[in-house]
Amino acid sequence: MTARARRGCVAIAAALAVTALAGGGDPRVARAQDEAALRGPEAFASIADRTQRSIALFVEAGKVFQHPRCRNCHAGDDRARQRDEGLPHQPAVRRGADGFGAPGLRCPACHQEANYDAVGMPGIAGWNLAPASMGLRGLPLSGICTQLKDPDQNGSRSIDDLVTHVRNDSLVIWAWAPGQGRRPPPGTHAAFAALIRAWAETGAECPRVP
Ligand code: HEC
Ligand code: HEC
Repeated sequence: MTARARRGCVAIAAALAVTALAGGGDPRVARAQDEAALRGPEAFASIADRTQRSIALFVEAGKVFQHPRCRNCHAGDDRARQRDEGLPHQPAVRRGADGFGAPGLRCPACHQEANYDAVGMPGIAGWNLAPASMGLRGLPLSGICTQLKDPDQNGSRSIDDLVTHVRNDSLVIWAWAPGQGRRPPPGTHAAFAALIRAWAETGAECPRVP
């Protein structure tokens, strides 16, 4: 299917859902709209200049990197954030020595191996806070790109390691199934992973400004 046909399908699916469930604020409608909101790598194939194509792929992927589901755990300091607004986490948990919280207020005590929708508690195995050096919150896309590529900040990862992390990491994948009442990032995890792979294959170029 071409990208245009696929966008058409998504639009039709969204329109049908609206007709069938008018007046609802139905999550399926929101999901269909969100999925249309992240273009896959094929949408950038017509950009002939390799550097410009790489930058355009990263800018598209930036819709995910700057999303609250990622940002709240990549806070750039030692405190988790909550909600789309990035409010300070209640209670005021700290990262602690290993990312899993200070003694007595450990992340897995509350964040279990799956979302617990009855109380609005997000969770998946291995829930912990990203180191301050891996911050996404409050950075422009150029700064996020520099952070991701810098082995001194990214946990000594190569570009290939980043591609693998984004494709396989369970915390990344969780963002697209974040539990009731939480908005996933736009698009699908597969489209995001494909964008990062294509970005790597085109030289992993960073936007220059701002
Ligand atoms: C005492 C229980 C408790 C502990 C301990 C705890 N959390 Fe939370 N956390 C919550 C609750 C409840 C929410 C949901 C708040 C909401 O969305 O209104 C939450 C939400 C979050 C979110 C927001 C997810 C999102 O994007 O919606 C992040 C990130 C987070 N916690 C990280 C952590 C980290 C990292 C730790 C350990 C350092 C931790 N939490 C420890 C109770 C806890
Ligand atoms: C529950 C918290 C949590 C969530 C949610 C989360 N991450 Fe992470 N992320 C981490 C932790 C912790 C690490 C460090 C893991 C390590 O180095 O072994 C990390 C590392 C990374 C890295 C590699 C290092 C770097 O420079 O950033 C990338 C890339 C990344 N995450 C992307 C994302 C994206 C994209 C999302 C959202 C789709 C996301 N993460 C959501 C906790 C989280």
